Amino acid sequence: MSVGTAVIGSLQFGYNTGVINAPQEVIENFINQTWYHRYNEPIPKNSLTAVWSIAVSVFSVGGIFGSFSVGLFVNRLGRRNSMLMANILAFISAVLMGFSKMAKSWEMLIVGRFVVGLYCGLSTGFVPMYVGEISPTALRGALGTLHQLGIVIGILIAQIFGLEVIMGNENLWPLLLAFLFIPAVIQCVLLPLCPESPRFLLINKNEENKAKCVLKKLRGTTDVSADMQEMKEESRQMMREKKVTILELFRSPLYRQPLLIAVMLQLSQQLSGINAVFYYSTSIFAKAGVEQPVYATIGAGHVYGTLTFLLISLSLHLLGLLGMAGSAILMTIAMALLEQLKWMSYVSIVAIFAFVAFFEIGPGPIPWFIVAELFSQGPRPSAIAVAGFSNWTANFIVGMGFQYGASACGPYVFVIFTVLLVIFFIFTYFKVPETKGRTFDDIAAGFRQTAAMAEKHTPEELNSLGADSQL
Ligand code: GLC
Repeated sequence: MSVGTAVIGSLQFGYNTGVINAPQEVIENFINQTWYHRYNEPIPKNSLTAVWSIAVSVFSVGGIFGSFSVGLFVNRLGRRNSMLMANILAFISAVLMGFSKMAKSWEMLIVGRFVVGLYCGLSTGFVPMYVGEISPTALRGALGTLHQLGIVIGILIAQIFGLEVIMGNENLWPLLLAFLFIPAVIQCVLLPLCPESPRFLLINKNEENKAKCVLKKLRGTTDVSADMQEMKEESRQMMREKKVTILELFRSPLYRQPLLIAVMLQLSQQLSGINAVFYYSTSIFAKAGVEQPVYATIGAGHVYGTLTFLLISLSLHLLGLLGMAGSAILMTIAMALLEQLKWMSYVSIVAIFAFVAFFEIGPGPIPWFIVAELFSQGPRPSAIAVAGFSNWTANFIVGMGFQYGASACGPYVFVIFTVLLVIFFIFTYFKVPETKGRTFDDIAAGFRQTAAMAEKHTPEELNSLGADSQL
């Protein structure tokens, strides 16, 4: 129940990623009408494109700020209360977007998208951290994938609700955007029934009894000595390590390698081009000559959701990246030959489905939960903030740049993603260690070893130096 409640935050992230795709036309009409109402003339084409692109991508600007602020909250309020508090943003955003039509203000829509972006940025830090910290080691990967599953289900719900017959129409689109109000209420009711992270209680608050109590509840047994032992070990390690600020994280050689890996994995997720599909699939499909683009979009979302679910335990990042690169090539061939061969439009659908499915095998879920695994308690909040920041910045670049890229490169726009995917494949192959089934402490020890070898210090020496960031 705790994991399920937490991933309502992931669902909100997915919902707001997907919700803006299908109702593009009706919302553009609203913007045009508002403009007409104010200035007595229709909105110029350029201004409409600008207002629309801002409304889409200001969400990731909010995400950038939100994800970077994660560290401000989690260590003071705790993980659970941070998630609870963030819902204030969801409510504010729902009100702004829900009433924008009534108030004849597209500015409210833009501010609302920014605020919900803040909320989602915070969630992409809070949720994987909380889930990683309450899960038993053996299940950490599997439960970590539920963050991504939440996102995918959110996208799917948004696409279904966005159908014209449901809420993607002239009258109901404000409701479609304000729908996030409901999951926010549900989360506010359920979160107080969920326990705080035992790691936070023990390691940050030094409340051993409470931590034990929570663990007993979470594990459903009375004997939690193994878990307690592991957390204490991590805590002892952390005493030597001190709390690590973002600046120290960059300075210390101890964290250089895990930080590089964390950031590169986030970049590989976003620069794979996945959100080019999720923000703009309606127009990609239309260009590929597929009729009824909205329905095809829903199809994509559906495959997406189902596959995530089926493949949840496979978690193969490398295969995922390679498969995406292959699908991107197929997509390019299909788009380039569309003029001569009509049936290429079907090939393009298959290519997009495959692209999205391969994403789900690894590049989707893994980057989100691996950051909590690569860092011990001391640097974890800072690392999650830096990783989230990289992810959202790359998300923004793709969201803002894709349409320009598409008009400059035509059918060859996916070649850009292919090249990037191959680069990320090579990096992952050589640099990323396996974390499955290992304890947090063991993973951190592995990195200390590597850093020590690189700096010609013993791991112990480096540990004490790492805290003061002298190197
Ligand atoms: C990942 C990404 C997110 C993307 C989603 C695809 O979780 O972080 O940006 O929209 O997958 O559905």
